[in-house]
Amino acid sequence: MCYIRIFAYLNYHVPRTRREILEILLKGLRRLEYRGYDSAGVGIDGGNSKDWESNARSIQLIKQRGKVKALDEEIHKQQDIDLDVEFDVHSGIAHTRWATHGEPSPVNSHPQRSDKNNEFIVIHNGIITNYKDLKKFLESKGYEFESETDTESIAKLVKYMYDNRESDDISFATLVERVTQQLEGAFALVFKSVHYPGEVVGTRRGGPLLIGVRSDHKLSSDHIPACFLLHPRHLPVSRYLIEHTNRVIFLEDDDVAAVMDGRLSIHRIKRTAGDYPARAIQTLQMELQQIMMGNYSSFMQKEIFEQPESVVNTMRGRVNFDNNTVTLGGLKDHIKEIQRCRRLILIACGTSYHAGVATRQVLEELTELPVMVELASDFLDRNTPVFRDDVCFFISQSGETADSLMALHYCKERGALTVGITNTVGSSISRETDCGVHINAGPEIGVASTKAYTSQFVALIMFALLMCDDRISVQPRRREIIQGLRVLPDLIKEVLSLDDEIQKLATELYQQKSVLIMGRGYHYATCLEGALKIKEITYMHSEGILAGELKHGPLALVDKLMPVIMIIMRDHTYVKCQNALQQVVARQGRPIVICDKEDHETIKTSSRTIKVPHCVDCLQGILSVIPLQLLSFHLAVLRGYDVDCPRNLAKSVTVE
Ligand code: UD1
Ligand code: BG6
Repeated sequence: MCYIRIFAYLNYHVPRTRREILEILLKGLRRLEYRGYDSAGVGIDGGNSKDWESNARSIQLIKQRGKVKALDEEIHKQQDIDLDVEFDVHSGIAHTRWATHGEPSPVNSHPQRSDKNNEFIVIHNGIITNYKDLKKFLESKGYEFESETDTESIAKLVKYMYDNRESDDISFATLVERVTQQLEGAFALVFKSVHYPGEVVGTRRGGPLLIGVRSDHKLSSDHIPACFLLHPRHLPVSRYLIEHTNRVIFLEDDDVAAVMDGRLSIHRIKRTAGDYPARAIQTLQMELQQIMMGNYSSFMQKEIFEQPESVVNTMRGRVNFDNNTVTLGGLKDHIKEIQRCRRLILIACGTSYHAGVATRQVLEELTELPVMVELASDFLDRNTPVFRDDVCFFISQSGETADSLMALHYCKERGALTVGITNTVGSSISRETDCGVHINAGPEIGVASTKAYTSQFVALIMFALLMCDDRISVQPRRREIIQGLRVLPDLIKEVLSLDDEIQKLATELYQQKSVLIMGRGYHYATCLEGALKIKEITYMHSEGILAGELKHGPLALVDKLMPVIMIIMRDHTYVKCQNALQQVVARQGRPIVICDKEDHETIKTSSRTIKVPHCVDCLQGILSVIPLQLLSFHLAVLRGYDVDCPRNLAKSVTVE
């Protein structure tokens, strides 16, 4: 799987030099740089002759780790390409990749190829879940693989279909149709081949793919002299496309769109009655900003709403809900050693630290080890004693946070085993830890972290489950938690459906100066994280307060004017939380209570509640934090602030 954006550009009888074509492709990628990626690549026609068709009989691939700038430099280093050659007809494809299957590297970047002669190349967004079976089959037929990606199996498979074609006049679209029939998973794909000069074929299943059309002539419905194909993963249309054309065709699942001789045709793999392959050319009239965000007004909002999907991606291939097992490929060689350790130390900053606070109790319960949770900066300031038989976890979305990285070096020097919980394959923490788990939440763009938090939470829970998989006495508890993970995505959706209600609450609160958030046990982390979200993007003062500490100070803040949010769930702290509620009410506080929707007692006695579904106690914190993510988002919008780029903050803090 990789989170990428794929982009293709064809010019048909519109002469363009190779330099211009590359500029268009790279500019397309560059416009999307804010989306998060770690490598980029292009596939263009090779050859330097004056005849476009003979040039198109070879393909040149240029791929590079890093930003588009690095790819651009790599292109200019190529000795054998003449940038001034003019192409009357040309098709080029380009992509940016966010690694999950294999490290970011040129060989893992797209386009992926069928063979050393680049007969077929493909760019892909999504995941091919049966790629291992395809790979095994293709290897048995003598195809040699070079990358760690799932996508490479598609490039090999299309060549296999071509090598085994029944006749020479088989079309490119037919080959692609045959390939997609063998693929399981979700994908948007664009293919190019030396056997089909000037052609390009795109298809999708489960993800948007659209074609932008531009012509200097009036278009007949099927004659499209110039065309872009691209796939924005979450966004319906890219800004770049809009700059070129506002005429687009949205493909449906299993459509195969082929451009041949400048004509676009759309084929259906499974034709059903009443389903015509004609797709209307639509004219986009959306504002640019709106288009970039899809249906959302900011990346943060989009990322909050992605959580039902991102937690699934964290668990994918790792949790088996039928036999209640957990497999973490990244820890399998180290788990025995971890089980023998003396203590676990979780080290992180900001939101990632809160993920450690949130899961500490269940880690203690299931591992029976002492667990310390440390802010990286403070851990270093204290020169904390660390021993060879300690296991130190580094939780980091970016994998580049300087304080966490320095703490990693500190622990390595002292001989501890180091484990990363990171979202960024190939990041410093991912590379420098002895082992770890990639949370696979997809790129997170909003500075205020949301989906990375819930995925870190899930990853740490999976680790706790793995640590006790052979302890008979905890099996009922393990099963309960694993079955809780199974329903989690649906429960998250249910919490997200409270959005309107929370927006209304925000309209009542947004002019306040301060918000206190109180809770205890599993929800203390939610209080800290909710308060951090509010601080980060609304610039209101907010404090997460451990309800057990209320009477030792914070209660002095409470009066009838102070906004208070309390989290009360039906777990072992329920009675104590009810006490805290009474203490607040006795000071004329009118708290807004986030509670279990079945908790009739609390609902009856509280003036204002946000009711969330019930979940197994140690996962409930995932559901209690989402209303606060939404609240901070709405507060920031109402206060007129830039949700994605709060003042004074950076997404990745690589300085001490
Ligand atoms: C890996 C592949 C995944 C593939 C799966 C198939 C990668 C990045 N992941 O996933 O694409 O589908 O096998 O079995 O290629 N690591 C660290 N520190 C960290 C995070 C990870 O050292 O902070 C190490 C792990 O110990 C492991 C490697 O990186 O050696 C990959 O980790 P992860 O992606 O979590 O492993 P799998 O889930 O097995
Ligand atoms: C920064 C971000 O301070 O770093 C926070 O603004 C983030 O949102 C923190 O939680 C830690 O980042 P990471 O990448 O190590 O999880």
